[in-house]
Amino acid sequence: MLENHLRPQYLSEYIGQEKAKEILKVYIEAAKKRKEALDHVLLYGPPGLGKTTLAGIIANEMGSNIKITSGPAIEKPGDMAAILNSLSENDVLFVDEIHRLSRQVEEVLYPAMEDFEIDIMIGKGATARSIRLDLPKFTLVGATTRVGLLTAPLRDRFGVVHKLDFYTTNELVQVLERSANVLDVTLEKEGALELARRSRGTPRLANRLLKRVRDFAQVRYDSVITKEVAEYALDLLEVDRLGLDKGDRAILETIADKFGGGPVGLDTIAAALGEDSGTIEDVYEPYLIQNGLIERTPRGRAITRLAYEHLHRPVPKV
Ligand code: ADE
Repeated sequence: MLENHLRPQYLSEYIGQEKAKEILKVYIEAAKKRKEALDHVLLYGPPGLGKTTLAGIIANEMGSNIKITSGPAIEKPGDMAAILNSLSENDVLFVDEIHRLSRQVEEVLYPAMEDFEIDIMIGKGATARSIRLDLPKFTLVGATTRVGLLTAPLRDRFGVVHKLDFYTTNELVQVLERSANVLDVTLEKEGALELARRSRGTPRLANRLLKRVRDFAQVRYDSVITKEVAEYALDLLEVDRLGLDKGDRAILETIADKFGGGPVGLDTIAAALGEDSGTIEDVYEPYLIQNGLIERTPRGRAITRLAYEHLHRPVPKV
């Protein structure tokens, strides 16, 4: 699949997240030297920043296989036990949205992560008994956009806990240039800059926009992505100048229109939007705060002058 070609396979190809690369490089090298599985790794941060990609890279760098699943996909403790039991020595088990594991499923993970063993129940009723199974040494890579929802016993069992950051425009330009190469499309520097600026600091979005803009370039512009093609296509796609999506804009508009620009409590904003307050806090807000569109005050969230200007609304006089 195309998407997979765009994913870097090794740390050396991976652009950005310098801190994550640096620590992973050391831990991977040390684990390989000792011929041991890498310690369990928890990656957290907003969607699209490369958590799944990094899990794949960890497996490749370790020379092992990866099994991919997600919190909501594992319904029963027995499902988790079966997955764990299917692993081979030094394999990577990637659990996306790990905050969504049920408590009972999570409890299977504790002895698995700590001692590489699981207890499984055999039989029912009075004859039921539990037997202990040894597991191969494996690495759990957990990913979450909502690290605050992880229980302490689960979080504490990860040896490496790392937060992924938004990419800089310059890093996104590099990601786009690499992807353009893979997709065999000509991307001019100014076109790359325009795409990068509108990608919300997120490589997944940058690559998605690149593919859409490529379609315009191929059909109308001799397959070259110039600044003009990028601008034209992005305007048609309604990706705004800051790369904000509908959800981002809805938050800013709600604070502006319903709450006089704020400050207003997070729960109140969430209720007005019919959205979960934790999702707003962990998924939407980090980018809006980082880019100076929202401020956190002791009395709640307020939008900034920049946000009013971006929404083309008059800045209220104070
Ligand atoms: N494609 C998506 N994310 C990437 C990254 N961080 N580095 C290189 N290519 C990517």
